[in-house]
This record gives sequence, C-alpha cells and structure tokens, in this order.
Amino acid sequence: MSRKALIAANWKMYKTPAEATQFVEAFLPLVAGHSRDEIALFPSVTSLATVVLAVAGSKVMAGLQNMHFAEEGAYTGETSASMLKAVGATHTLIGHSERRQYFNETDEVVNRKLHTALKHGIVPVVCLGEVLAEREAGETASVLKAQITGALAGISADQAAPIVIAYEPVWAIGTGRTATPEMAVEAHRIVRAEIARMLGTEVASAMRILYGGSVKPENASSLLGEEEIDGALVGGASLKADSFAAIVHY
Ligand code: PGA
Repeated sequence: MSRKALIAANWKMYKTPAEATQFVEAFLPLVAGHSRDEIALFPSVTSLATVVLAVAGSKVMAGLQNMHFAEEGAYTGETSASMLKAVGATHTLIGHSERRQYFNETDEVVNRKLHTALKHGIVPVVCLGEVLAEREAGETASVLKAQITGALAGISADQAAPIVIAYEPVWAIGTGRTATPEMAVEAHRIVRAEIARMLGTEVASAMRILYGGSVKPENASSLLGEEEIDGALVGGASLKADSFAAIVHY
C-alpha cells in the first residue's frame, strides 16, 4: 500500500503575518513542481489567513495548530472549525504534546476535537508520543496504545480516511535528540497495529503516520526513507524556507 507522504511545518508561536509572507515567497519557488509529497504549513492563528492567500495557486496547504471542539460559544481565545474553514484553511493539528503539556489537553479532548474536525471536512493531524520517563520505564507501547485508543474512540472505519497521525516522542521535540529510524519504525508499527485493531487492517494500512521530533535536513532522508514513515511534522527546522525545502526534497 503506497501512502503519499505529508511534510508539515509546525511554526508554533513564531512568525508575524509579514514574516509568514516572506517565508512563503521564498519557499514556493523552492518546491515548485514538487509532487511526490503533500506539503502543509501550520502558522499561528493571526498568520493563517495571510498564509492561505500566499499559497493560493500552489499545492502547498495551510492549517491551524489547534482548534476547539465546540461549534461556537463562550471559549475566550479559542478558534472553531468553521472559523478555520472560513479563512480557507484545510488542516488542523490536534493534541500536540505542547498542548497536552501546557494546556491540559487529554485524550478525551483530542477525541472530541477529532470528531469535530471530521464533521467539518478538516484534515486532522493527531499528535501523540511518549515522554522520556515513559520510554525509560519501558512503557512506550502502552502509552501509544492508550493515546490511539483515546483519540479514535467512536470513530468508524468509514470516517477514518482523512486522519493523519503524527508520532512525536516528546523527548525528541526541540531537543536536537532524534529517534533513530529503527525507534521511529518500531513506534509506528505499534500505532498502526492499534489502528488495525480498532478500525481494521485496510484503514490502518492506508493511514499516514508522520514522524516528528528534531527532523532536520541532515536526518530527513534516513527517517523518511523508511517505508513505515509517511512524512514529517517539523518544528524548528521549518522556520527557514531553505531548511524546510531541503526536508521536502529529502
Ligand atoms: P521540532 O518540533 O522539529 O522543533 O523538534 C516538532 C514538533 O513539535 O512538531
């Protein structure tokens, strides 16, 4: 089963609209004609509309880093699925480890957001991964299984096609410490097996599982060259157009 890779830039809380525009102007020529992989940018909410306009006419897509599960309401500071769609964005990250760590996002919240994203036709990139203490305690497999089970609760096989998973070991995010391709592949296999258990092997073998955590131009090809790794979610190395383009061209 061949899966089209997705190479995604998570800009976190970086870049004003002007900086985002500068990035896109420099980046698009570097990836013009690149059709092997999908490419998506996840800017901050204030730059989203700007990025959507800047990438229009190219194959590069844009999404939010976080989205609320409610349709609308008294949720100060939050962004709804319809707001995301109204500016022309197509994707959202869900359950990034920084959201889980600093904003108390639980598997239950992740699950509610996933249901909302699917209902609105938004491509959800569901992030999960173990922290260092869990890896060292030999709990990686059980943590990943629990996160997948929680995230996919109540999702049926017919709904699952748009879902993308991003395996991001928390100890590798922003630390310069990358999982080896073998470690990433092992984790992806655990995640895929759990998806198969819940939704069947057909859904599991079609679902893209990205790797994230200190992906750089220097390590992209060894990770992305693995059959089991269907793309990358890139933080730090996605902030510069040439470095992110080098990852796209791994
Ligand atoms: P990093 O971040 O590439 O800077 O490690 C990845 C992420 O948080 O998605």
